[in-house]
Amino acid sequence: MDVESVFSLVKVPSQSPLTIWRWSVKNDRKVLNLIKQYHPQGGLDKAAILVLNLLGIGHYLVRQHAERVALLAREVARQLKWDDKAVFFAGIFHDIGKLTVAPHLFDGREITAEEYAHVKQHAIAGFRALRDLYLMTALCAGLHHAMYQKGYGLTIADFPKGLSLRTIKKILEISTLVAICDDIDATLSRKTSLKDGTQAGLSLEGRLAQKFPDDTNIVRLALEVARAKQ
Ligand SMILES: [Fe+2]
Ligand SMILES: [Fe+2]
Repeated sequence: MDVESVFSLVKVPSQSPLTIWRWSVKNDRKVLNLIKQYHPQGGLDKAAILVLNLLGIGHYLVRQHAERVALLAREVARQLKWDDKAVFFAGIFHDIGKLTVAPHLFDGREITAEEYAHVKQHAIAGFRALRDLYLMTALCAGLHHAMYQKGYGLTIADFPKGLSLRTIKKILEISTLVAICDDIDATLSRKTSLKDGTQAGLSLEGRLAQKFPDDTNIVRLALEVARAKQ
């Protein structure tokens, strides 16, 4: 079975017509084509399709979000002349750990503090799921909520020994870009109140400036790209 045939299986979940309507077929196609074009080593393309399929069964909102984050972060990476392939796959996998959390906690309802504590575990869960297979992607999944104050997930102490400073720098940069794109997408599609410690009532620009004070150029560029996509 070729990659496209495997991917097409996600089009037949038993979802409501509204759910199917909300599914972004355009992004699905774009993401599939990029997965194929990048043709990563080590079966990362198959793993990406598997994860998107799994998300599509019970966590379709997370799947849509992961696709948008991957596409947004990739575009920003291209403009920055970064490794857009690594960024794209980090975006696809960043919320893989949400597969370990009940889907109803992501459907837009208000959640309790206890439920939020459970949701926050998805970063570490994602790292654990990926670390033996794709270390860089795993670290980005574990770090995507750790790149701002009051964040959560992995710490520098969790980095495996022996990584070069250059590699660590690259992982932190990609994690920051994914974190910014994650925040932008979550904010633009958010229906519930903020729980990340930033001040309620701030504009998106204000919130991002507060969360990522050292990355204003990336924030500005990511906002520009995101708004152009709307
Ligand atoms: Fe996340
Ligand atoms: Fe996310």
